[in-house]
Amino acid sequence: MKNAENYKILKFPGSFLWGVSTSAYQVEGGIKNDWSEWEKSAARVNSILASSSREPVSPSQGGRSGEARSKQKEKIFNLNDFICGRACDSYNRWEEDVELVKNLNCGAYRFSIEWARIEPEIGKFDEKAVEHYKMLIRKLKDCKIEPFVTLWHWTLPLWISDLGGWENKKTIEHFSDYVEKLAGSLGEDINFWITLNEPQTYTGLSYVAGTFPPQVKSLFRANKVFRNLMQAHAAVYKMLKQKFDGKAQVGISHYANYHTAYGNTLLNKALVKIMDYFRWQRFINYTEQYQDFIGFQYYHHNRIRFKLGGRLIIADIDNENKSVNDMGWEIYPEGIYPLLKYIKKYNKPIYITENGTADADDNHRAKFILDTLKNIHQAISEGVDVRGYFYWSLLDNFEWAHGWEPKFGLYAVDLKTFERRQRPSVSLYADICQNKRIMIV
Ligand code: GAL
Repeated sequence: MKNAENYKILKFPGSFLWGVSTSAYQVEGGIKNDWSEWEKSAARVNSILASSSREPVSPSQGGRSGEARSKQKEKIFNLNDFICGRACDSYNRWEEDVELVKNLNCGAYRFSIEWARIEPEIGKFDEKAVEHYKMLIRKLKDCKIEPFVTLWHWTLPLWISDLGGWENKKTIEHFSDYVEKLAGSLGEDINFWITLNEPQTYTGLSYVAGTFPPQVKSLFRANKVFRNLMQAHAAVYKMLKQKFDGKAQVGISHYANYHTAYGNTLLNKALVKIMDYFRWQRFINYTEQYQDFIGFQYYHHNRIRFKLGGRLIIADIDNENKSVNDMGWEIYPEGIYPLLKYIKKYNKPIYITENGTADADDNHRAKFILDTLKNIHQAISEGVDVRGYFYWSLLDNFEWAHGWEPKFGLYAVDLKTFERRQRPSVSLYADICQNKRIMIV
C-alpha cells in the first residue's frame, strides 16, 4: 500500500479558483433556438445519415486516431441521439446542480445564459427567465461559489438567425442590448463575465467546416462572422467596464489544441503556425486590449500533416498505439504546458475555463485531471499567471454535433429520470478542490 511518503504534494496558490463548467443549451433543456431547429432540419439529418457509414469527425476539434476510427467506421447512428430535447433538465434541477458543485468543494461555477430565453423576440425581454438566472446566481453566492457567466455559448435566438446571425452587423447591436439588459438586472452580483465562448471554433465549425448551424462553407462569410464577433466583444467589454468600473472582469474563452508537425518537416511546421494563428491566436491578438483575463480551454493534441493531393490531415495518424478517449482524442494532458507558456506573453491573468475528457467508464479521467494540473502547476511555478481551473463538465451533457454519446461529466445523467450519478473521479476532484493541492507519485 502507498503511504504519504510515496507522494509528492503540489500546492496551488490559496486564491486559485477551482470550478466546473457547463453551458445552457447543453444542460438546461426545453430551449427553442437556432440549434434546436437545425437539429430537425433535412440538411442536418442528411449530414448524420451520411456520416453513419463514415467516421464522424469534428474537423475543428481534431480527427480520430486509427483505433477509434476503425471502431466507429461501420456505426449506424440513431437520429434521436442528436436531439438535445430536455438535455439534463437543469433548468428545473438547477438547485440540485448547485448542490453538486458545492459537494465538489468548488469555489466557482461557469455556466452560460441563454439569449433565446432572455429575449425570445426582438426587444422583448422575458422577466421570468431573467429571474431564473438571478436565483441561480444568488444561490451560488449564498454557497460562496463565484459565478463565471458566459453570455454567448454558440446558440442564437431564432429571430437573430433569421436576420443572418453573426453575419449581420446588426447582431452586434442586438447582442449589446441583450447584455445591457443582463447587466442592469444581474450585474451587481457578477464579477466575472465571459462574453463569447470559443469564437474561432464557432466560426470554423459553422462557416468553414459546415458541421454546426447554419452549415455554411465559405471563407468569405466566415471572415464576416469573425469580424462581427470581435466587434461585439469590444462593444460589450466597453459597456461593462463603464457600467461597473473596475469591478467587472471581462474576458473571452478561447480554445486551442496543442498542434505539432507530423514528421517535424518544415512544411508541416509552417502549417502548424498557420493553423494556430487562424484557429485561436488571431482572435486573442485582435481583442487583446479588451480582455481583463484570458479564458483558455484545452482538450487534446493533434499532429498536422499536409498530404499530396492538397488535403490537410489533422488526424493523429502516427498515434495508432497511443491512448485515446471515447471521442478518439489523444490523451495528452502535457499539451497544456507549452500552450500556457505561449499565452504568458499576453501578460494577463489566465483561467482555464474548460478542460476535460470523454470517458464513460471513468477509466482515465482521474489521471487526466491530475496530469493536467501537474502541468498547470509547473507553468505557474515558471511565472505563468494561471488563477483558476474549471473541469468540463459537471454533468454528462449534449455534446453538440456529436450528440449524446460522449460522456464528459463528473456526474453521469440518466436521460429518462434525469437522476445524477457520481462517477468515481468525483472524490478525487472534490479532494483537490478542498485542499487546493494535488498528490502525485
Ligand atoms: C468545447 C465547448 C464545450 C464542450 C467541449 C467538449 O469546445 O466549448 O461546449 O462541448 O468543447 O467538447
